[in-house]
Amino acid sequence: MSYKRTLVTCALPYANGPVHIGHLAGVYVPADIYVRYKRMRGEDVLYVCGSDEHGVPITIKAREQGCSPQDIVDRYHKIIKDSFTGLGINFDIYSRTSSKVHEANASEFFRKLYDEGKFITRESEQFFDEQEQTFLADRYITGTCPRCGNPDAYGDQCEKCGATLSPEELINPKSKLSGGALVKKKTTHWYLPLDQYEGWLGRWILSEHKQWRSNVYGQCKSWIDGGLQPRAVSRDLDWGVPVPVEGAQGKVLYVWFDAPIGYISNTQELLPNSWKTWWKDSKTRLVHFIGKDNIVFHCIVFPAMLKAYGDYILPDNVPANEFLNLEGDKISTSRGWAVWAHEYLQDFPGKEDVLRYVLTANAPETKDNDFSWKDFQTRNNSELVAIFGNFVNRALVLTHKYFEGKVPAAGALEPMDKEALAEIPALRASLERNLEEFKFREALKDALGIARVGNKYISDAEPWKVAKTDLQRCATILNVSLQICADLAVAFEPFTPFSAQKLRGMLRVGLQAGFDHRKGEQTTENTFREGEGAALHTLPMGAAAAYEGLCLGWDDLGKESILPEGHVLGSPELLFEKIEDAPIDAQIARLEAIRKEREAAAALKAEPQKEECSFEDFEKMDIRTATVLEAERVPKTDKLLKLTIDTGIDRRVIVSGIAEYYAPEDMLGKQICILANLKPRVIRGIESKGMILMARQGDGKMRFITPQEVLVNGAQIG
Ligand code: 2FM
Ligand code: ZN
Repeated sequence: MSYKRTLVTCALPYANGPVHIGHLAGVYVPADIYVRYKRMRGEDVLYVCGSDEHGVPITIKAREQGCSPQDIVDRYHKIIKDSFTGLGINFDIYSRTSSKVHEANASEFFRKLYDEGKFITRESEQFFDEQEQTFLADRYITGTCPRCGNPDAYGDQCEKCGATLSPEELINPKSKLSGGALVKKKTTHWYLPLDQYEGWLGRWILSEHKQWRSNVYGQCKSWIDGGLQPRAVSRDLDWGVPVPVEGAQGKVLYVWFDAPIGYISNTQELLPNSWKTWWKDSKTRLVHFIGKDNIVFHCIVFPAMLKAYGDYILPDNVPANEFLNLEGDKISTSRGWAVWAHEYLQDFPGKEDVLRYVLTANAPETKDNDFSWKDFQTRNNSELVAIFGNFVNRALVLTHKYFEGKVPAAGALEPMDKEALAEIPALRASLERNLEEFKFREALKDALGIARVGNKYISDAEPWKVAKTDLQRCATILNVSLQICADLAVAFEPFTPFSAQKLRGMLRVGLQAGFDHRKGEQTTENTFREGEGAALHTLPMGAAAAYEGLCLGWDDLGKESILPEGHVLGSPELLFEKIEDAPIDAQIARLEAIRKEREAAAALKAEPQKEECSFEDFEKMDIRTATVLEAERVPKTDKLLKLTIDTGIDRRVIVSGIAEYYAPEDMLGKQICILANLKPRVIRGIESKGMILMARQGDGKMRFITPQEVLVNGAQIG
């Protein structure tokens, strides 16, 4: 199939929190690399994203914060949009599912399927909060997890043990809204009968898309093999796109029905006259960039929706990534265990590319991967600075030193020059293959490979030494080095666009990017036009005119003489800066504080209940009040106190392991509770008759139990 254009979509992030490095590594950075690369190759690409502004979690957050859902999404839409821009992720449109265009489009989509009888309806019993007079989404129901006893499990999931739950499974389900008990009430919803699409999906994915990533293909196969069930496409909720059917008051489209339609709505908003070219022309190639938790929606549910509607193209590829962990732990927004994009941009100004680079180098493409701040520092210092930056700096500084900043003429090439240059086309071929196959980690290795070639070449050729005896040879070495610098300015544009632009500035070259279909030629204009097949590109292009028209394009990569002799270079600047320990340590300390807080909170959580005991078991225990008369440490122990107590029945000795928590003098005169009839034991040579009752917290801290007011000694407890 030969395509004329590519439509790239990125999962619409939920506007109920900022985006973090997991989102960036999983979806947005790889998509951006892909789009930049395709555009550099002169392909026509449309790049669409926006905020996903519906769904229950947004309504929960609004309630918690005492504001409206619209306030929440307005706040996060802006934060997210600015983060993307800050990182050079420049969509052609970043809109939102609370837009008018989307509401109209999603309604129309639903209505057409409804009118054509593509849905089935089902009545079911759902939990209803009588106090609030509303049906409750699973997230609004809390109760005790049947698996682990967590008293705060949600109706869809227990966040402590990770179990997927249904509200019916919870012990003592309660409303999160009113805190009250729940009743079951009947409600009717529309369902997309996925079972009817099973045969088609099986053929379309399992036979016709064998080239999809194995994680994507495997997940689809297991869904299809397991048998597809009808999926509800509406919900009882007051936030979302209203179900456009009479009598459907209080019902909205399920967020996962309306969100993917958002891709289409956003295209319509951008291109009201030509959006169909991107969604309905079989010459358009559709690629969805998503995280692995979205696979079923993009590979099964959305294609079934599009198929049911008719006329739409279907995704050609869905390069879903696995998850990125942070310092060995799952990223968790609720626990604050994340690195937020907007905070990173504040904490590391000017280092947008470092994050893009590290997230690509560690991209969770084939398995979950880890981000650590130390690795971030190392990759910056020993790859970007020591290899890429160092090479470029040496080439430019020496050219300024010996040749007044002009590209010197090369003499006859020696074998070492030829060998270095010969490596570039092979690296380019591998780079292209990897980018086409969505293997961004490998592709980045190829790009860095070019820098390694240059760095090794200049180190081996030592132009700073050669200059003393043979200026012509030095000129050749620097000419070769500068050509490799130009290669790097091309190869790194998709990965580290800010630095590539900076490098182009130092080399004084523009960037050839985009394709003007009207003129039928490459363009450097940063234009934005609508029209059939119009070029749409948002690459930050160097102003070609300012550089006497010298422009680099993808096809220059690996050519021998990209920069002509005599071309005047700009001033050398450091391409990357070393990152010292202090900012890294500050980030690690922030995370350590969260980890400690979490451990402390976990430790304080009550232990699960012990096995049941009978009343008779309890009756056997003789628990009484008593007063401490004497207290002393048991010699040569850290933990034991020898307490002489008045039990009301007798005066006796109890040895107790509380010395860590109480000094002997703290105990004197205190009224406590004891288990009087515990079988006597000899501890460190002392006969101990009974046990002091202590309350023990999860963190091990112990406190003795004392009656609320002083009682006679020997008062029985029970
Ligand atoms: O998982 C998520 O963050 C969803 N908001 C993704 C939606 S993708 C698309 F369908 F809009
Ligand atoms: Zn649980």
